[in-house]
Amino acid sequence: MIAIVLLGPPGAGKGTVAEVLAEKGYTHVSTGQLLREQIQQGTQLGLEAKKLMDQGAFVPDDVVVGMIRSLLEEANPEQKFLFDGFPRTLSQAEKLDELLESLNGTLGEVILLECPDHVVVERLSGRRTCEKCGTIYHTKYNPPKTEGICNLDGAPLLQRPDDKEETIKNRLEVYETQTAPLVSYYQSHGLIHSIDATQPIQNVRKAVLEKLG
Ligand code: AP5
Repeated sequence: MIAIVLLGPPGAGKGTVAEVLAEKGYTHVSTGQLLREQIQQGTQLGLEAKKLMDQGAFVPDDVVVGMIRSLLEEANPEQKFLFDGFPRTLSQAEKLDELLESLNGTLGEVILLECPDHVVVERLSGRRTCEKCGTIYHTKYNPPKTEGICNLDGAPLLQRPDDKEETIKNRLEVYETQTAPLVSYYQSHGLIHSIDATQPIQNVRKAVLEKLG
């Protein structure tokens, strides 16, 4: 079992890059998406997560680690995982190391998508997501062929509730205090590969594919 981690601030383009890696055989695991599914299903976990996510705060570590543990324990030993939005705290990173070790898995690479705050704000304000298949668009940088409609399945495109300006600000602050320290953690393990995520989408995707060989 091999895991790759996509690290970077909200809106850096983790989900956009993950779409192409999923086509290369990686199992894309977005903890944000897993939590949004719980919200859609109206579960207790979803109700509690929604309150935190709408404020731009993190869901507790034990909840998120529990979801990842179940996934990895049920996985095929040959599976290649791409984590998007996990780990997000030092505690989650340590738990991931322990989990992989117990399952004879390896953390292959950590791809850091570097993107300044002003770019993040513009990207998140223009983001639209297909309500059915989750494909990510941008009103300016990656527009659908027909406004408001997914190219792949014709379903409506929605704006995420946490993409409001004041929530984006909180998410950036939380990233800086809780997630940015993971860069030094993974640097000390020799695993970080930084990519300039301000480049056009195709260039970022190409750079990530090249890093992963
Ligand atoms: P999550 O869904 O993971 O959100 P995030 O990390 O804030 O990241 P985003 O999905 O907002 O952005 P992205 O980097 O994927 O960018 P995207 O590709 O969409 O988490 C949501 C919430 O869930 C968290 O706030 C937290 O509450 C909770 N949560 C999740 N995981 C957790 C965990 N592990 N622990 C605790 N809580 C957790 O791109 C953004 C836009 O930019 C799109 O419109 C796209 O088209 C455009 N774009 C992308 N790349 C480019 C480019 N190169 N040029 C121009 N435009 C681009």
